[in-house]
Amino acid sequence: MPRLSPTEPVLHPDCSISNSTFGAYVEVGRGSRVAQCMFGDYSYCDRYCDLANAEIGKFSNIASYVRIGATDHPMERASLHHFLYRSASYWDDAEDDADWFLRRRARRARIGHDTWIGHNAQIKPEVTIGHGAIVAAGAIVTKDVDPYMIVAGCPATPLRPRFDPEIRQRLLDLAWWDWSHDKLRATLLDFRSMSIEAFLDHHE
Ligand SMILES: CC(C)(COP(=O)(O)OP(=O)(O)OC[C@H]1O[C@@H](n2cnc3c(N)ncnc32)[C@H](O)[C@@H]1OP(=O)(O)O)[C@@H](O)C(=O)NCCC(=O)NCCS
Repeated sequence: MPRLSPTEPVLHPDCSISNSTFGAYVEVGRGSRVAQCMFGDYSYCDRYCDLANAEIGKFSNIASYVRIGATDHPMERASLHHFLYRSASYWDDAEDDADWFLRRRARRARIGHDTWIGHNAQIKPEVTIGHGAIVAAGAIVTKDVDPYMIVAGCPATPLRPRFDPEIRQRLLDLAWWDWSHDKLRATLLDFRSMSIEAFLDHHE
């Protein structure tokens, strides 16, 4: 694993990146496509992800082959085919449909802080994944997910919450994801070793 940087994302080979911004200590796995995304500090995706039109919070853990923001085709028109909007690829005198692309880009998915998106999961456009939530491997998420909920399946449904409501609220209030890099280093051993209750008692 490479040493990560506070100023530049580590982009592994064969990535395609467009119109995207990256916070500190970000890593993008080999062969990933990232378009119109905002990666918060410390977030990463593993190999061959396809991420579009997404606001990704801090400390998000995105496993390989995840797709976020898969776009739709024009289901109400006479044809579904992309010649309707990628028209310049087919005719010299036709322009691409700029409005179509703008509408698609406006449908943003939101991935909270400290989330874990499992291998090969998909998250639809405009869906919000709450802070601390887990999306199981292979899930297809079509609706918003509450903070600290684990969802699984196709379509994804709640499996169980990670913590009881009191602990969940205390974690949301603590918002440790806003701590400085130095404070994270100073509390690293507490993160590693303390129970969730002891950690909250100690750091609130
Ligand atoms: C969602 C997850 C975190 C749950 O972990 P867990 O609590 O240890 O889960 P368990 O194995 O105890 O399973 C609990 C239930 O969820 C179901 N389940 C677990 N993972 C599932 C999945 N991916 N899709 C559908 N159902 C799943 C189990 O069948 C079980 O159902 P049951 O209660 O009816 O028997 C885990 O299964 C997962 O998907 N992790 C992601 C792994 C990954 O993608 N890693 C990539 C590297 S980061």
